Amino acid sequence: MKPVKVGLLGLGTVGTGVVRIVEGHQEDLQSQVGSPIVIEKVLVQNRSKDRNIPIDVSKLTEDPYEIIQDPEIDVIVEVMGGVSQTKEYILEALSRGKHVVTANKDLMALHGPEILRTAKENQCDVLYEASVAGGIPIIRTLIEGFSSDRITKIMGIVNGTTNYILTKMTQEGASYNEVLKEAQQLGYAEADPTSDVEGLDAARKMTILSTLGFRANVALEDVTTKGISGVSSEDIQYAQRLGYVVKLLGIAERQDEYISVTVQPTMVKNTHPIASVNGVFNAVYVYGEAVGETMFYGAGAGELPTATSIVADLVAVVKNLKLGVNGQQASTAYKEKKLKSDEQ
Ligand code: NAP
Ligand code: HSE
Repeated sequence: MKPVKVGLLGLGTVGTGVVRIVEGHQEDLQSQVGSPIVIEKVLVQNRSKDRNIPIDVSKLTEDPYEIIQDPEIDVIVEVMGGVSQTKEYILEALSRGKHVVTANKDLMALHGPEILRTAKENQCDVLYEASVAGGIPIIRTLIEGFSSDRITKIMGIVNGTTNYILTKMTQEGASYNEVLKEAQQLGYAEADPTSDVEGLDAARKMTILSTLGFRANVALEDVTTKGISGVSSEDIQYAQRLGYVVKLLGIAERQDEYISVTVQPTMVKNTHPIASVNGVFNAVYVYGEAVGETMFYGAGAGELPTATSIVADLVAVVKNLKLGVNGQQASTAYKEKKLKSDEQ
């Protein structure tokens, strides 16, 4: 049983979770894929930083090419974040025949089509379940679970940090700035939390979900976006008095060939199931013409929930390796064709 060798780019909140799950669940993973999965090398910014996980320091490197160009490495797991550098590393890894698992919604929302095209050309997988809604397997569900249906609406709370902030402001009267700091300490927020609080992170996720759910090209710049930085305690109390809670909601709707996607703070009637999604939890409501209403709920950020999705993708890549079918999933989701509405 030849081990499958993984190069991990990043050992922060999510990378640490990946190491914990790969090591902690090794026996079970092996029994599913038939080979040991070994984290061979890990890219970090600073090798001498104190880590909250015991790791063999000789595996750590500050040189990305030591991993990307290593012919022994089969799969790259990218959990370092950022766009331009990361895109360069991923494209080079794909050109060298390495499969990629990523949690990077910024990258996938902006460059998904190019990355998936390159993956297809090189018969590689690129899987990105962790990029939306942390531990909820919503991407796989949209691609596979609803392949038989025509989805007309996707609505949800897809940012854990802002839901955590709004929940604490609502339930405990906590101050916005204090709770944001807490969300950062808990590892929920992005390196620059502006993208959380201004709605950009949710917009990137809604771009990915609507592209997959509607099987269409949805661009990030088409998403009307407003964050929660302008939501005051008074707004929240006023909504409460009227029987509503304030949530940062992403709403994507399709009517014929027309698609609209918005992210904005929204008053939700407190009897609606979305109103009781609190803290770091996310929920995604999907309406399909045949299936009707469905809703998916779970932790939207954080070390282990996010790493669960990453390692599930890793298992899928290794199963595809065994079957020799890598690169066949990635390309089907994103269309090269433009929507009719884009052409007008
Ligand atoms: P993080 O805690 O800030 O960790 C980033 C890691 O990447 C660190 O280990 C850092 O090295 C390394 N790194 C960053 N830039 C680098 C560079 N230029 N060269 C080498 N190493 C570099 O971030 P995170 O929260 O784990 O998030 C990682 C990715 O997952 C992001 O794309 C994020 O959007 C996504 N994501 C996060 C969550 C979550 O709950 N946190 C959930 C879903 C998706 P050092 O350790 O040496 O600083
Ligand atoms: N910052 C993101 C959030 C991480 O709070 O939802 C998960 O994608």
